[in-house]
Amino acid sequence: MLLLFLISALTFVTRTYETTNQTLCDGIIFQQVYYDKEVLVTNLGRPYNLVLHKYTGDLFFSHTIHTGTQVDFGIMACHVDSKKCYPVDGVPGGYAIGYDSAKDDLYFGGHNGIYKYNFVTKKAEFFAEEGKSIWGIFVKSNFYYIEYPTQRLYVYRRKKFVQVAKAIGIEILIFFISKKLEIYFSNKTALYKVDKVSKLPIVLNDEIITRQIVEDNYGDVYFCADDGIYIEESPFHRVKRAAYINQGFGMTFDEHERIIYSDRNSIYILNPSSDSEFCYDKLFYNSN
Ligand SMILES: *[C@@H]1O[C@H](CO)[C@@H](O)[C@H](O)[C@H]1NC(C)=O
Ligand SMILES: *[C@@H]1O[C@H](CO)[C@@H](O)[C@H](O)[C@H]1NC(C)=O
Repeated sequence: MLLLFLISALTFVTRTYETTNQTLCDGIIFQQVYYDKEVLVTNLGRPYNLVLHKYTGDLFFSHTIHTGTQVDFGIMACHVDSKKCYPVDGVPGGYAIGYDSAKDDLYFGGHNGIYKYNFVTKKAEFFAEEGKSIWGIFVKSNFYYIEYPTQRLYVYRRKKFVQVAKAIGIEILIFFISKKLEIYFSNKTALYKVDKVSKLPIVLNDEIITRQIVEDNYGDVYFCADDGIYIEESPFHRVKRAAYINQGFGMTFDEHERIIYSDRNSIYILNPSSDSEFCYDKLFYNSN
């Protein structure tokens, strides 16, 4: 009888606990901290290549556009605070986005070359490489781009684009140089970091599908992959998971160092949560 009473008392306690607590905990755990997930924009198709322009607060990205039966890529921008979005016109098949932080110049690439963004008219203007299909753009000291579909890496040298000698014969999907001037790249084989001494690529991981490489203000390098966000584990040549994401497509940071990331259909901003401890425990123990 006593036992029965105890059992029912216990059920009662757990029930009230569950029903009175309305905290949803639908955010995510990033590096052992729970964050609330704010939707910046949704109903997108494959939001790739997230680049935040800190002076305007606009987040630029590429996404799929459906015109009749055709599927193409296009560039879009959304303001992180007002959440107002607008398409960036004039870049057919707009996919690649590269930001030159030293000169505050923004570049896009599509089916027909490279374009430069005019922040006054909010329009893209033709820049270079007419007739070439551009997969990726990266600017740091030098201007790099990846050609599609060959996946060859080019760099601007002496008034023209030439193939990067060390990358001849190697397909490159993502190319990134950090503030510490470390070179990272990924291709179908693996994710690599170029060793500063030997100049040879070293495998960081050959299992994840990397979709974007970024760094924060402290120079920590992050890899957005289809199954989560990873962080480099220096000085070891490996990465460790910082967050689980179902179908991650891209990531960046805003001017307050908040994490912005995308999955197949939406872009989210991670905010500090007032329910951080409660939700961490809830998510952590539910998944274990
Ligand atoms: C990827 O890069 C590595 C290192 O340079 C290279 O050995 C490999 O062949 C490349 N894979 C492809 C598909 O090009
Ligand atoms: C309900 O959730 C909050 C977090 O928002 C937590 O602080 C509180 O302890 C929870 N209430 C109960 C009864 O556990």
